Amino acid sequence: MSVSYQPVIWNRTKLIYDSFLLCGVVLYILTFLKLAPLLLRPDQLPDLPTLRMCAFGSLAFLLLTIVLAIGPLARLDSRFLPLLYNRRHFGVVTAIVAATHALFVLNWYFSYSPTPMLRALFTSNTSFGHIAGFPFELFGVFALLVLAVLAVTSHDFWLSFLTPPLWKAIHMSIYFAYAAVVLHVTLGVLVTGQNLLLTILVGVSLALLCSLHLVAGGRERAADHAGSPAAPQPGWILVGDVSEIPEGRAVVGVAPGGERIAVFRSKGRLSALSNVCSHQNGPIGEGKVVLGFVTCPWHGYQYRLDDGCSPPPFKERIRKYRVALSGNQVHVEATPVPLGTRIEPVAIPDTVLAAIGSAPQGARPS
Ligand code: HEM
Ligand code: FES
Repeated sequence: MSVSYQPVIWNRTKLIYDSFLLCGVVLYILTFLKLAPLLLRPDQLPDLPTLRMCAFGSLAFLLLTIVLAIGPLARLDSRFLPLLYNRRHFGVVTAIVAATHALFVLNWYFSYSPTPMLRALFTSNTSFGHIAGFPFELFGVFALLVLAVLAVTSHDFWLSFLTPPLWKAIHMSIYFAYAAVVLHVTLGVLVTGQNLLLTILVGVSLALLCSLHLVAGGRERAADHAGSPAAPQPGWILVGDVSEIPEGRAVVGVAPGGERIAVFRSKGRLSALSNVCSHQNGPIGEGKVVLGFVTCPWHGYQYRLDDGCSPPPFKERIRKYRVALSGNQVHVEATPVPLGTRIEPVAIPDTVLAAIGSAPQGARPS
């Protein structure tokens, strides 16, 4: 977690994901370059540098679309979670592919320009008043700059250095980059008057991304609106029946202000923590207890059940709440205790455990 930073923490799974990612990139470029001459008439076929530029440009767009789809997909179906773990590498590869596209553009379109390439890029077309002839390259430049900043600051060192809220705000600009790329491609097609297929692809991916975000957001909003009813004690809410919590897992309640609270059951005892991970706001309540620690499903940050602190030497802390059991009903105080406060987990009586057909697992102090 935060104590020491290595450039990349490699493990077997990460190596497998990255191998798939890199093989996919190479396969896409080779297929594009081999297929285009077979599918296009010789008079339609662009020269090789243009073909390379199109191959890398369309791949950058595809990768960017996948990066943006991973978040909502992982929220809708946990089978997409493995993609989420590799989202950082996906983003960095997207920036590299986009930069390669831009380099091909500069080295081909402006290679015979009497003015230096970069100056030519910004000055050769200034028809800002015409949609059809608009200097669409500038949207590409903007998107590339955003992708480069995000790739450079994607490591957890920057997350900790900039603080999560600022880091998150900067990384939300990925949506501006996507909007700029959509404009770059659509205006580019208007200028060049070709590649209807690409326009359709951009339209479909835009519609797909909007729908995924709306469905995932709608689901979360509905869950929040459903809320958790008030418990008899003022300031407390009812989060559900203890039988709904499998061993090592959680149910999630919603406090009146909208704060989500995860109540975990472990070794016959209940503990409540914030549902929001201090790393990148991952859903703690969808994680599980591993070796006595609540483990975030996104990148594996861990927190102690009794005080919400990461085990030493790590220093992350998440909010902790009081829990009470009334019969089988689990109640949680809607206001968190001060960060780092230790609260003994609430023991589930053996009679209740027997009634819900579950014996306590592991040692439990009597
Ligand atoms: C410095 C940055 C960039 C410059 C100067 C630039 C320039 C260009 C130019 C001149 C075209 C030519 C269109 C044509 O001849 O048909 C093009 C197409 C394209 N660009 Fe960029 N671009 C940049 C960044 C990006 C980025 C960041 C992306 C995506 C993430 C992107 C995606 C595309 C796509 C998908 C096409 C269409 C390719 C095709 O026709 O198959 N570009 N770009
Ligand atoms: S969001 Fe990354 S570990 Fe929780």
